[in-house]
Amino acid sequence: MSRFWSSVVHGLSPYVPGEQPQLDGIVKLNTNENPYGPSPRVLAAIAAATDRLRLYPDPRASALCGTVAARYGIAPEQVFVGNGSDEVLAHIFQALLKHDAPLLFPDITYGFYPVYCRLYGIRYEEVPLDAAMRVQIADFRRPCSAILLSNPNAPTGIGLARAAIEALVAEHPDQLVVIDEAYVDFGAESAVSLVARHDNLLIVQTLSKSRALAGLRVGFAIGQRPLIEALERVKGSFNSYPLGCLAIAGAVAALKDDAWFEETRARIIANRASLARGLSELGFEVLPSVANFVFARHRSRGGAQLAAELRELGVLVRHFPKPRIEDFLRITVGTEDQCSRLIALVRRLI
Ligand SMILES: Cc1ncc(COP(=O)(O)O)c(C=O)c1O
Repeated sequence: MSRFWSSVVHGLSPYVPGEQPQLDGIVKLNTNENPYGPSPRVLAAIAAATDRLRLYPDPRASALCGTVAARYGIAPEQVFVGNGSDEVLAHIFQALLKHDAPLLFPDITYGFYPVYCRLYGIRYEEVPLDAAMRVQIADFRRPCSAILLSNPNAPTGIGLARAAIEALVAEHPDQLVVIDEAYVDFGAESAVSLVARHDNLLIVQTLSKSRALAGLRVGFAIGQRPLIEALERVKGSFNSYPLGCLAIAGAVAALKDDAWFEETRARIIANRASLARGLSELGFEVLPSVANFVFARHRSRGGAQLAAELRELGVLVRHFPKPRIEDFLRITVGTEDQCSRLIALVRRLI
């Protein structure tokens, strides 16, 4: 604390990301990183782009917007890119979610959402997930300015069908619906195809998970032009160059390497199935995940204690000390070896 702090800073309680230990030999299944690494073409593209380090990057990152647009069959002007989807989300909160009526999001979801609300002074209400930890769109029928869902939801991993998202968007024509699709490539239905028909829908994606580029920091939003323009206004008032030339080059190469993308995500989906099976056999309830993590609780062992014991054994998983989910562990789907090691250690512990 200092007398130089503004009143805003006094009121902040920042998001606490999962631990990033600087030690070798740890099995790191706590922050939903991709265990297979990025496409080798990304590394080549980044090396080639070093020639341009002297220059400021393209402030609009046109090459990247064009690549995203080509992949999704939309116009480049419908794409907004930023320094990780966290930054894209931050701009969305400031540009589009601050109104008189509250913003709605589930009680169990990505922990950064309430942090942005506090940063920007946005009123919000948490809508409880149902007893099975599912989003029920009927529960969102209440006065609000906007709705924000992560699909699949984090940390539950449960997906919401595209038809349900379209129903939600249609039921709220005067409210913005933001769908955070950070994990969508691991088996959920993307709502990008609905953007053409709905001016109140905005999609956010990241290259941190399915493209294995968490360290490069690239995310994007897709929506109709007036929404993207609002984000460009905020960005242009904050940082003209959020993406460096290396990030732009690497992201373009990643989005173009379909073979690498398909192969690595198929392996993660297969590992997820065996991890879930292994945990169920050891007495865990495992929520049905379409993400690159599983959310599971043991019938008799508490989540905090299990996470601490696994940590002692060199395996990091994520535990959230929060009502309704304190007995759960969120376990990132690792390589075949990492998943087997986790199962063997859990068997020893319970
Ligand atoms: C639901 C969700 N959205 C967004 C993000 C942010 O991802 P990034 O800033 O790496 O793009 C995360 C990160 O874990 C997440 O879980």
